[in-house]
Amino acid sequence: MQWTAALLAAAALAPGVNSAATLRFSCAQLVVDRLDPLVNPGMIPSPHLHQVVGGNAFNVTMDHELHDQATTATCTSCMPTEDFSNYWTAVLFFRARNGTYKRVNTMGNGLGYTASNGGQTVYYLSSGKVTAFRPGFRMTVGNPAFRTEAQARQNPSLQFTCLDSPMTRTGYRYDFPTTPCKAGIMVTVRFPTCWDGKNVDSPDHQSHVAYPNGNSCPASHPVAIPQVFYETYWDTRPFNDQSLWPEDGSQPFVWSFGDPTGYGNHGDYMFGWKGDALQRAMDANCQSDLFSDNVNCPTLKLQSIPDTNKCTLPRRVHEDIDGWLKELPGASMQNMS
Ligand SMILES: *[C@@H]1O[C@H](CO)[C@@H](O)[C@H](O)[C@H]1NC(C)=O
Ligand SMILES: *[C@@H]1O[C@H](CO)[C@@H](O)[C@H](O)[C@H]1NC(C)=O
Repeated sequence: MQWTAALLAAAALAPGVNSAATLRFSCAQLVVDRLDPLVNPGMIPSPHLHQVVGGNAFNVTMDHELHDQATTATCTSCMPTEDFSNYWTAVLFFRARNGTYKRVNTMGNGLGYTASNGGQTVYYLSSGKVTAFRPGFRMTVGNPAFRTEAQARQNPSLQFTCLDSPMTRTGYRYDFPTTPCKAGIMVTVRFPTCWDGKNVDSPDHQSHVAYPNGNSCPASHPVAIPQVFYETYWDTRPFNDQSLWPEDGSQPFVWSFGDPTGYGNHGDYMFGWKGDALQRAMDANCQSDLFSDNVNCPTLKLQSIPDTNKCTLPRRVHEDIDGWLKELPGASMQNMS
């Protein structure tokens, strides 16, 4: 709620008067696959299923020194045509009374991107001057092992919203909604905004970035970076019949890594903008329109949502992800780890 107030306030200010950017755009679904080049590079399949958007250079291995998405990719599923970054999250499943699992699809964001073939909305936010990411930069936020609210709260705004309408922006929570959500479930993932200024990655993919203390970055991580923020709309509407829900009154959704609480919500980011396109957009303090698909950022070359829908990747792991599955894809590997 607080966040929406800030968003509305930022949008209301005339461009150029403030030094804050709210760059927002849609990214269609590139692929749903069991790959994770950040946490499990080289592993095919990786332990759990992801939904991925962005440049089509997404691959099993994406070494930060050797792999340059901006030169390897030939298309992107995001509206800025110079953004070949990859953005991904885990996948939602519905668990039926008979114990089988059905994958939940993503859908376009009600803020103005309903024409998008699933995927997610990406924001780059700033309040003041920020330094855009360096080639090879990547990070994760959240932890798939978290199962309590106290753990989940270590990361502000890794949250769920029960959508009463496609525009609902109230009632953020850290676990799965406990009642059917008329218009689906929105999952938000917000990354830290301070960087150590040196490392494009770290062994845990998190310690090279940090949260600010109040409005300023800590001495250990002095460089203010854009806030990367995802909103993913999950189309849970086909599963709203409560006679299909568990008899004990619990909610039926589970993350692809076996988490029935939601507290393990996490996200992955791999920077891949061409040249200084992101820095220029942040310096221009772009303010994307709130209730339309107008990215409203003159420094960027943009493509239409139908064009973002055309950029897809074939799945590399050949397994059934669309039937009523006896177990989650990779369940045996998840038990190992
Ligand atoms: C993925 O990497 C392999 C091996 O380097 C390469 O042959 C293939 O073309 C890459 N795929 C994409 C989509 O970049
Ligand atoms: C399990 O339940 C789902 C949803 O009710 C149904 O579609 C599916 O056919 C069932 N599968 C088995 C093996 O009973």
